Amino acid sequence: MRVLGIETSCDETAAAVLVDGRLQANIVASQIDLHARFGGVVPELASRRHLERLGPVIDEALDQAGITLRDVDAIAVTCGPGLVGALTVGVAAAKAIAFAGHHPVIGVNHLEGHIYANFLEHAEIPFPALVLIVSGAHSDLVVMADHGSYDVLGRTRDDAAGEAFDKVARALGLGYPGGPALERAARDGRPDAVRLPLPFASEDSYDFSFSGLKTAAVRALEAARAAPGGEPAPGFVANLAAAFQENLVAVLAAKTARAAEGRRARAILLAGGVAANTLLRTRVAAAAARLGIPCWVPPVSMCTDNAGMIAEAGWFRLVRGFRSSLRLGAYADLDLGNEVPETSRISVA
Ligand code: KG4
Ligand code: ZN
Repeated sequence: MRVLGIETSCDETAAAVLVDGRLQANIVASQIDLHARFGGVVPELASRRHLERLGPVIDEALDQAGITLRDVDAIAVTCGPGLVGALTVGVAAAKAIAFAGHHPVIGVNHLEGHIYANFLEHAEIPFPALVLIVSGAHSDLVVMADHGSYDVLGRTRDDAAGEAFDKVARALGLGYPGGPALERAARDGRPDAVRLPLPFASEDSYDFSFSGLKTAAVRALEAARAAPGGEPAPGFVANLAAAFQENLVAVLAAKTARAAEGRRARAILLAGGVAANTLLRTRVAAAAARLGIPCWVPPVSMCTDNAGMIAEAGWFRLVRGFRSSLRLGAYADLDLGNEVPETSRISVA
């Protein structure tokens, strides 16, 4: 089966071609240049840029895979959660291609796509798996009992992990997107040189809360600037970045390990843009090793938004008989625990 994947939920215009579960093309046109000067994604600009870029990006993916639209068997498209205008561009394109070529279309939850980035390399993941999804908008701990079965144990009560990275990086003047910039800055820092709180929302819950840690980091910066001389001491920014990253990652890894143990998970999966973070990858892998279970993390390029992961998640659903109707829409809020609207299982494979 040849699946064309389309992803436009935020600031990457992306298309991919997956043939029988193998990725033949995965094109990502980033909009970083467009949004960088605003320090974050401007939704209206994102939608317009998707509109301009999506056609050429799909053509490039098809070219690279050596096929044309006629050869496509199905289309998988992100229909939420995300920016509604941005999502609408991808969903409208997917439905138009499906309608014109009489192809089936499957709406994919963006978060399920992030999880399935793991399946591109490891087709056989033992269930139940404990998944930590950490992106610009989400920090979720999820038990995956089987393909398509998600039980959300905890989520963020305020800022998502990636959002906290982005906001602290902006305060430190490190640029956008903040996660990779802050990780780079932290390399030269000592995490114990600045005292910041450990952001346990509460010890016995699986929820996260990162806004207190974020505010403490911003306050520490303000205090350093207010000190005599007006400029933080050399190395302060690196130390602050290292301390922030250390505490955020410590809590993510600790709650992931506790949930994996409590739910007797047989594997831990990392997913989402923040899963590109080296410290997080190392700490969660160490926690999994202590529990004696495997830890899987997508390659760094597959952690951030791309259409390969959407095609992969869509393919798993298509072969199990799921289809969306042409009434599929764009949904800003879409829960991982619920079926995608306008979508049902029309046959049991
Ligand atoms: O999954 P993603 O590409 O988009 C959303 O679905 O939100 O995640 C983007 C987020 C941004 O907040 C970005 O700063 C963060 O992932 N991120 C990182 C790293 N690379 C990307 N955060 C920490 N360390 C990184 N290396
Ligand atoms: Zn994402």
